[in-house]
Amino acid sequence: MAKIVFVNDNKTVEVPAGTHLKKVIEDNSVGVYFPCGVGRCGSCMVKIVKGMEFLNEKAGDEKKTLEISGASDDKRLACVVVIEKDGEIVIETENVF
Ligand code: FES
Repeated sequence: MAKIVFVNDNKTVEVPAGTHLKKVIEDNSVGVYFPCGVGRCGSCMVKIVKGMEFLNEKAGDEKKTLEISGASDDKRLACVVVIEKDGEIVIETENVF
């Protein structure tokens, strides 16, 4: 299982590898919203404080959107992130822009 800590919401959840981060956020009422849901609008940007190595690689529209917005390497677009491996992932969801 992967352990996910949402620091701003003071919530910790455990999910199996292969789970989409969007589902974890929606299931746990974390304050991130998904206007496009496909990595194009940038609204769901989060900061991965720890555990980037347990997530899928940035690619496609997510990579382009992050580059255009000048985001630092620790940023991800939560709508297209998949938790691929077991480990601890710490996520900030507020003031990440
Ligand atoms: S919801 Fe638009 S980029 Fe994630």
